Amino acid sequence: MAEDQADHTIYPVPGRLLDPAQCPEPYISSMEQYKEMYRQSLEQPDEFFGKLATELLSWFQPFQTVQHGGLRHGDVAWFVEGQLNASYNCVDRHALATPDKVAIIYEADEPNHSAKITYGELLRQVCQLAGALRAHDIRKGDIVAIYMPMIPEVVIALLACARIGALHSVVFAGFSAEALRDRVHDACSRLVLTADQGRRGGKTIDTKKIELPLRASSTIFSESMNSEDPLFLLYTSGSTGKPKGVMHTTAGYLLGAMATVKYVFDYHPGDIFACMADVGWITGHTYIVYGPLGLGATTVLFESIPTYPNPSRYWEMIAKHKVTQFYTAPTAIRALRRLGDEWVEGHDLSSLRVLGTVGEPINPEAWHWYNNTIGKNRCAIVDTYWQTETGSHIITPLPGAIPTKAGSATVPFFGVELAILDPVNGKEMAGNDVTGVLAVKRPWPSIARTIYGDHRRFFETYLKPYPGYYFTGDGATRDKDGYIWIRGRVDDVINVSGHRLSTAEIESALIMNHAVAEAAVIGASDEVTGQCIYAFVCLKPGSSGGHYGHDLTKELVMQVRKLIGPFAAPKRIYLVEDLPKTRSGKLMRRILRKIVAGETDSLGDISTLADPSVVETLIAKVDGV
Ligand code: WT7
Repeated sequence: MAEDQADHTIYPVPGRLLDPAQCPEPYISSMEQYKEMYRQSLEQPDEFFGKLATELLSWFQPFQTVQHGGLRHGDVAWFVEGQLNASYNCVDRHALATPDKVAIIYEADEPNHSAKITYGELLRQVCQLAGALRAHDIRKGDIVAIYMPMIPEVVIALLACARIGALHSVVFAGFSAEALRDRVHDACSRLVLTADQGRRGGKTIDTKKIELPLRASSTIFSESMNSEDPLFLLYTSGSTGKPKGVMHTTAGYLLGAMATVKYVFDYHPGDIFACMADVGWITGHTYIVYGPLGLGATTVLFESIPTYPNPSRYWEMIAKHKVTQFYTAPTAIRALRRLGDEWVEGHDLSSLRVLGTVGEPINPEAWHWYNNTIGKNRCAIVDTYWQTETGSHIITPLPGAIPTKAGSATVPFFGVELAILDPVNGKEMAGNDVTGVLAVKRPWPSIARTIYGDHRRFFETYLKPYPGYYFTGDGATRDKDGYIWIRGRVDDVINVSGHRLSTAEIESALIMNHAVAEAAVIGASDEVTGQCIYAFVCLKPGSSGGHYGHDLTKELVMQVRKLIGPFAAPKRIYLVEDLPKTRSGKLMRRILRKIVAGETDSLGDISTLADPSVVETLIAKVDGV
């Protein structure tokens, strides 16, 4: 099998992180300590999570039962009997203890427009909006859709809903009106919260007029919620057309968010935490809002794009706010890498301790660039694997404890018992050096509880395929050292002549070529080999197929043959301008598969694409027009 072409070089924890003169002492500072805590989390889960939930959360009424139900029946519950409020945990308790501490640094689209909001001010604004929502007869259990740009009001809106026990359902502001309508209808939302407009990259994005008169209001007490009362819905695309309203509940979700900010980002008081995602996605919910604010941290809300006004924007922002944890996606890392190191040079990145990545497997080239050029080999790189449905990280290194490998998400987080299953017979593949589908054997606190209005779909998607397990939909390898390598969605696995290949792996091989900026690989059907490989390749600016004096596509085929094996060689390579990607940067290989198969009349939902016009261009290319 080709997949163990991975580089198994182990990168130790940077010495600086373990030097008390330079960095705060990491919470987990050795592999042994991680292993011991991980063991406890599995062998004594009630003690482990009971203690964590008591330490990290403030309860109106304590829980008695730590965990109830399970994956076999899809009736997972955590901290039963407990009563709490997420808004109280994220705002009030910090506003009482440290009212002048900055809660939100709003890094506006225009670099000189940033603003700071303290916990005291945040409490005032959350109460004001919560009061306005109540005045509109929004009550506990109602659903409020939120369609807002990346301005402080979106954070306030989430927390105002949580405060009164209403579920928020954030629809990413880049979605079309039709997509918004579908999601509002599916959830029977009672109200849509929106703003006049937002700005991104110097452009104005119109949303709508705000609907709510804000009255000055006194404290609105936070509603006492049961641990298992829903906190929010978040729509995510499934393999079928209809989006799923993934539902998270209050205590387990909040605990997962906070525990991972604490341990995975090694958050210490005084740190400046910067997650570059949009609040409209789960990454923004968990790592801009609930995780950092739950811990009383200062969180950065970044309204702009990494290239506005120029590709130094991230690095300038890190220097300006002395960011300690920085979290972004491989697609952004690749894009910035391709624009050249000169945009990084001259910016003081010395405040950084932890660099996170999420969303797709990170190819080693991008990992090394992040580690060397941004981290200067003195930061921890945390490749965090998780999903909308998992609520928070489930596989990830810990900065002070886990040596890394370039491209591996490494080891499971506390309480997450992984299994690699044989996709054919569903049997668990024991030991190391195995590849199969990735599943989890028992519930962890922040696992989604259901799909709104469709528990059967929840059950059939995640729990029924391998009874007793949560099925992630991803393929994974547990390598010879026990490290996990995510292979991408199993629907992106290609089988050529009985060789299982990951799209990500071939893409990674293609991108090793100095002319290549990005690549997307799909499986097309082939009479002889079952499937064959088609690759779509975007070149770096200034590179062109003819520029090298010979056919670049031939060179690329040779490269894949050399790096992976002859059976992995693409049958066709298209040099294209752009790839179909969602606004969060995820490659929509499904669309490429349809185009190649000639099924252009059934492309499915393309409303989530960053630029839907790319579809026409690709069709023309493949048709040879
Ligand atoms: C899918 C979940 C949850 C954050 C954003 C995406 C892929 C996510 C990694 C990673 C390899 C990753 C998986 C997963 N994914 N993180 N570190 N390495 N793959 O959330 O839209 O729910 O997508 O993203 O395929 O199943 P999402």
